[in-house]
This record gives sequence, structure tokens and C-alpha cells, in this order.
Amino acid sequence: MTAPLVIAMPSNEAMAEAIAREIAADLGKIEVHAFPDGETYLRFLTIVSDRNLALVCTLDRPNDKILPLLFAAATARELGAAHVGLVAPYLAYMRQDRRFKPGEAVTSRQVGRFLSDAFDWLVTVDPHLHRYGSLADIYRIPTRVVHAAPLISHWINQNVSNPLIVGPDSESEQWVSAVAKDAGAPYGVLEKIRHGDRNVEISIRALHDLTKRTPVLVDDIISSGRTMIEALRLLKARGAKSPVCVAVHGVFADQSDEVVTQAGAHLVTSNSIPHESNGIDVTEPLANSMKELLSSPSENSILKTYR
Ligand code: R5P
Repeated sequence: MTAPLVIAMPSNEAMAEAIAREIAADLGKIEVHAFPDGETYLRFLTIVSDRNLALVCTLDRPNDKILPLLFAAATARELGAAHVGLVAPYLAYMRQDRRFKPGEAVTSRQVGRFLSDAFDWLVTVDPHLHRYGSLADIYRIPTRVVHAAPLISHWINQNVSNPLIVGPDSESEQWVSAVAKDAGAPYGVLEKIRHGDRNVEISIRALHDLTKRTPVLVDDIISSGRTMIEALRLLKARGAKSPVCVAVHGVFADQSDEVVTQAGAHLVTSNSIPHESNGIDVTEPLANSMKELLSSPSENSILKTYR
């Protein structure tokens, strides 16, 4: 069987190379640039016909990335690729998962539809599943989800003594409890009310004594950073020292990475989005999930029915 072919969309080269190394895949090349008017030029520099192709594209700042990605997938099909899969370590547009006000777009469902039409399979890391039970609710292609919790627990075990794992809101309890269990540490969850994109209110109901442990705030995403910053403010007011903030996906809108570190926290993220705070490597589980998907005969027959 021919080795799979892995190709990085722009700025995803490091992850694509690491994945290709892990699964002994060939590494291909694509040229993508913007014309002066902003339109996309795209050309595969590696022959993709009859290949099992995986495009690697993390989807932070998604609006500029999704259209070139859809062009790339469609072009690979036109050029005869056997299957076209997507490795999106960060999967965007998962948080608008309901029509909160009449007339709103439920963009998570729409992006799910665009990507399901374009790709045969999808691998990602901890998508924001709050009101959806699983990706199958909105993606109709085979998917694999990598959970960063065991890697986060391992990082905490190696780097933090006497940790107290803290989730900033009830949504975070799913991964905070898993992280705490693996790290053999206690955990608590704060309460959050979001009033707007950059306006959150956080309160503490009951939490362990913060003066005796190192609080480790764990969340799936840091975007505007308001959630982490408000949580940090509260913890510090309760006497917490040297807090640590861990996020699976460091999206860091509004230079929130600087604001979090200026607030005195040690910041750690996974490399689902490249950033200087990357301390948790998700390459190996991503590569394993991809390998599993590529070698699963039943799912391969499902793949064929989508073509
Ligand atoms: C909540 O839905 C998520 O788990 C995160 O807490 C949230 O996305 C963080 O956003 P921000 O950094 O903008 O407060």
C-alpha cells in the first residue's frame, strides 16, 4: 500500500512534518498565495493522483483559512486524489452551537457541512463540544477526536507541585475532572456568566484553600482571555500564588497571551495552534488517530461512499 501523503496549508509546516514523521507518510507541497486583490492562487507541487491525502490546517483565524482549504480539497479531488482528509488540530466555529437569538446563524453546523462536503475524514483535538454530544451531530464524515487531558495531566505532574486544578466555568468540568483524575489532584470549578464577547463575570462558590496549593486553571480555549483574566483576578484575591493557566487551544485574540502573563500567570498551551507558550505536544495522538482512520477497513468503505 502506498504511504499516505501529508501536505501543510500555509503556517502548518511544523505540525505536518511531525505527523508525516510519526506515520512514515510522504510529505508533499502546495503553493498558496494571495493575488493583489485578495483572491487565492493555489497549486499542488506534488502529484496527488491516487494518493491518500491529508491536508494539515489548524483553524484559528478561520475566515482567511477556510476558503483556501476548500479550494485545496476540491483541487486535490479534481487531480484524482483517492481520499482527502483534514487534520485540523484546532477546529473553529464550534462555539456558536445554538440560535441564541432569533435570526442568528448557527455557524458550527454550517462549517460542519462545508467541511463534510469537502473532506472524507477529519481529525482534531478537543473540539468545543458543549451543546453537541459529539462531532457526529454536525459532521457527516468519519472523525477522530484527540483528548489533550492525559497530556495536560502529565505536564502538570512534571511541572507543578501540589496542584489544585481549577475550571473557570461549568463547561470546563468535563476536561478539568479528567485532568485532575489523571494528575491525582483535587479540582474545583468556578461559575461564569458571559455578558458579551469581552465581558465575563466569574464567581467562586466553594474551593479548596488556595494558599496551600498551586492553582492550575485549565480551559479548552483562550480567545479574548477574559475568562482566564477574571478567574486569575479572583484566585489572586483569595490569596493564590503563582497560578498556572493551561489551555488546549491558545487562540489569543486581543494579545490576550500578554495580558495573561502580565497578570502573573505561567501560561502553557498545546501545539494545536503554534505559539511560544506551546508546552504540550499533541502530534503523537493526532498521528495515531489519523493512522487508525486510514487503516480502518469499515470506515474506508464509508469513505468511498462519500466520493
Ligand atoms: C467557553 O465556552 C470556553 O470553554 C472558554 O472558556 C472560552 O471560549 C474562553 O473565551 P475567552 O478567552 O474569550 O474568555
